[in-house]
Amino acid sequence: MKILLIGSGAREHALAWRLAQSERCTALYCAPGNAGMEECAERVPIATEDIPALVNFTKEKAIDLVVIGPEGPLVAGLTDRLQQAGIKVFGPTAAAARLEGSKAFMKDLCRRYKVPTAAYGCFSDIGAARTFIAQHGAPLVVKADGLAAGKGVVIAGTTQEAEEAASEMLSGRAFGAAGRTVVIEEFLEGPEVSYFALADGRTVLPLASAQDYKRAGDGNAGPNTGGMGAISPAPALSPELARMVDEEILKPVIAGMAKEGCPFTGVLFAGLMIVKGRPVLLEFNVRFGDPECQTLMMRLENDLLEVLVACAEGRLGDLKEDIHWKQETALCVVMAARGYPGPHARGSVIGDLAAADSLPGVKVFHAGTERDEQGRLTATGGRTLGVTARGTSAEEARKTAYEAIEHISWPGGFCRGDIGHIFEIYGKNEDKISISF
Ligand code: AMP
Ligand code: GLY
Repeated sequence: MKILLIGSGAREHALAWRLAQSERCTALYCAPGNAGMEECAERVPIATEDIPALVNFTKEKAIDLVVIGPEGPLVAGLTDRLQQAGIKVFGPTAAAARLEGSKAFMKDLCRRYKVPTAAYGCFSDIGAARTFIAQHGAPLVVKADGLAAGKGVVIAGTTQEAEEAASEMLSGRAFGAAGRTVVIEEFLEGPEVSYFALADGRTVLPLASAQDYKRAGDGNAGPNTGGMGAISPAPALSPELARMVDEEILKPVIAGMAKEGCPFTGVLFAGLMIVKGRPVLLEFNVRFGDPECQTLMMRLENDLLEVLVACAEGRLGDLKEDIHWKQETALCVVMAARGYPGPHARGSVIGDLAAADSLPGVKVFHAGTERDEQGRLTATGGRTLGVTARGTSAEEARKTAYEAIEHISWPGGFCRGDIGHIFEIYGKNEDKISISF
């Protein structure tokens, strides 16, 4: 099969690495890819937003399957355009991608199908939002309805902060059209976990859990980021809780989407909070998480291509093999350019990665890397490398990942030193809760 993978992050490097290992894969192209992906794929210089050029390329090369990594092209309708051209796609249509692309759509769907989420209201008018805020009191969480690159959520400790956030979003100043509707919801507390499942429109196939470390600094300090590290499986998700996620959240949502005429095909990533021993849905993403995907690809035993093709063809129910995971922990430490998520320099040189990459149980995935004229590896973005290791315990995986980092010379980069650490905080009613986000 000839495959085209869309995206350029470490998530896509991890997917490319596993797709290229499949016996059925005869050619793998990445648009636009990164320098690290050159080890297993041919790069195509087309941007992820350039839908007409991606469709043309797919037809020209007679691609058999397109795998879409990031949410932008999914929400913009890349799947629909490719399917209209008769091409097989792993990833939801624009209508199904509204589970991530519109928080109001997601919340209303959950209400209709009785899926546990935080209590909420949706507003496009500041007057009605103010009334709701006054009635409910702080703390509250204010969210822009549309895609806002992970920045559209404000945890408001006072009603004044909530009003200001809602007003900034509704005016269009904060996030443009993505903020013209806001969701205001109840503030919840508890450990957070990421949970992944495949769906082919009807059948749900649970994959695995992971935990994301979202803050830039050690001890969960500093600003929010796209994710500075991850561990899989998530320590906070017991098998019993995972069953509750399948039954109470994923199955009703997938059945609901089919019933409403927008069946969901692809990977559904549930962002969950465990509240008083029950999983509550915070958000859906319609793609793999980054850096969570890197840890999942290190643990997956199946042929990834077989699984994604079965999903795209609506055949998850008759997959010959169950999904098997290595009974080990995988842990990813993200190395980012100094200053990330704030302003950071571009073009700093990264030393040779071979020593780190050749350690047993280690794989270094690239996100923002390119080669300069002298063939040196340089950093082109914020999050740049995902140093990922497997171990028989979280501690072993952690030690191996940090040992690999010792072998990497990149003065322009930094990483957290505490990925894998489980933090304990106290909830409102003095319950001790473990948290590692
Ligand atoms: P989201 O993009 O909806 O996942 O929100 C980003 C982050 O905001 C989550 O990972 C949580 O840490 C936090 N968050 C979102 N919704 C809530 C909520 N209702 N209560 C408390 N924290 C929340
Ligand atoms: N790591 C969270 C995300 O990919 O959205």
